[in-house]
Amino acid sequence: MATHDIGLIGLAVMGQNLVLNMANHGFSVAVYNRTTQTTDEFVGGLKNEPQDKVWAGTPDRIQGYHTLEEFVKSLKRPRRMMIMVKAGAPVDAVIEQLKPLLEPGDIIIDGGNSYFPDTNRRDADLRKAGLRFIGTGVSGGEEGALKGPSIMPGGHHDAWPFVKDIFQAISAKVGPNNDIPCCDWVGDAGAGQYVKMVHNGIEYGDMQLICEAYLILKETLGLTNNELHQVFKEWNETELESYLIEITRDIFTVKDSLGSGDLIDKILDTAGQKGTGKWMSQHALDLGVPTTLITEAVYARCLSAQKDERVRAETVLAGPKDAKFTGDKKQFIEDVKQALYASKLCSYAQGYVQLNAAAKEFGWKLNNGNIALLWRGGCIIRSRFLGDIKAAFDKNPDLENLLLDDFFKAAIEKAQPSWRRVLSTAIQLGLPTPVFSAALNYFDGYRRGRLPANLLQAQRDYFGAHTYERLDKNRGEMFHTDWIRERTL
Ligand code: 6PG
Repeated sequence: MATHDIGLIGLAVMGQNLVLNMANHGFSVAVYNRTTQTTDEFVGGLKNEPQDKVWAGTPDRIQGYHTLEEFVKSLKRPRRMMIMVKAGAPVDAVIEQLKPLLEPGDIIIDGGNSYFPDTNRRDADLRKAGLRFIGTGVSGGEEGALKGPSIMPGGHHDAWPFVKDIFQAISAKVGPNNDIPCCDWVGDAGAGQYVKMVHNGIEYGDMQLICEAYLILKETLGLTNNELHQVFKEWNETELESYLIEITRDIFTVKDSLGSGDLIDKILDTAGQKGTGKWMSQHALDLGVPTTLITEAVYARCLSAQKDERVRAETVLAGPKDAKFTGDKKQFIEDVKQALYASKLCSYAQGYVQLNAAAKEFGWKLNNGNIALLWRGGCIIRSRFLGDIKAAFDKNPDLENLLLDDFFKAAIEKAQPSWRRVLSTAIQLGLPTPVFSAALNYFDGYRRGRLPANLLQAQRDYFGAHTYERLDKNRGEMFHTDWIRERTL
């Protein structure tokens, strides 16, 4: 009998927690996992869960199925099925298994970190089969999935009214009354996954900026972990208030359970990555937009991964000798905070520029203010700052670049002297700050009406007759010079 509001396939932790979240909000959920034992253990174990994890009555709303046929039959029409399996081929495999079991109008939702061209393709293929596909970003990690993630759905717009209630009910909420859902329709085809990819790229940028601030504070001022905890605690009470600053604050307090001292000092300095930041950078290059911070953040992870080589290089290559910080300690901490804030702003500005370039490329109608709202709560990059971004786009939905908004323009102006002091110090002391530097370079490049690309065009024309445009002629009118013949010295 068709009784369930929605079905979920893939019972890893994210899937399980989304199911619990849906059931906690009164929805009845059918669950399926390829390994039936996982289904049985999850459903069987619910009765024993503590009350703070599972509300009373929830277990009755969750039912496990051993075959996809039974699972599909158990769903109300139009059937809504959410896939939470590993991105890539496993998603296609599940879709192929589901297809023969479905009827026109049924809705398949992919909630993984899928690559947006895959979502574009699946959307087009499933439309041909009369099915409706949603590719949705889900952010907030395991806890977010259980207690309220940020949800970024895109795909077949006609499917939205059928999932809106469930998604908005289970999503994080923000606003003075805590009732504005961090979930709204993003756009057609792969738009939702694209927005999630940009979220992840920005996450990479934010994390690397925090790491560079940590390095600068530690190496210039010699701050201890306790002092670093205090600095991040104070920062979290300012315009920098965010989930990532908050967890960084807490990380400095954790002791090593396998030995003495603080855990942070025992962690190997090689960063992993699953690819979403790289995808964003790759697509920035395809679009021809300068997403420099996020790309540098990806490269910083790559360089960190070359641990053995760096350890060898350290014995060969020297930096500045006897360089020491001599300024005012308190002022410098404030400078680093300002530098972090200004750099973060450049990162979000770049993220939005890329989003809008992609929207143009794919014909998506994105609402920038709404996207800021989706990220305002529940997700990894949630922050106070996103409220200001929403306000900027509400004021001017066609804002070309966040740096041009009055509020942020003033913020950058205020931060600028600090920002430059921090980078000068870092360079003098030989500290690597790729993302702080990329941010300031972007700002300095973006705010110049004239860049040295006139010389670059002359060089291209010199060796390859690539032609150039002139300042005093119409755009598009091309000129060529025989540079060898015209040389005068
Ligand atoms: C989220 C996160 C999540 C991401 C991890 C790991 O929004 O909940 O972005 O989707 O997968 O943060 O990403 P990396 O392994 O690439 O750092």
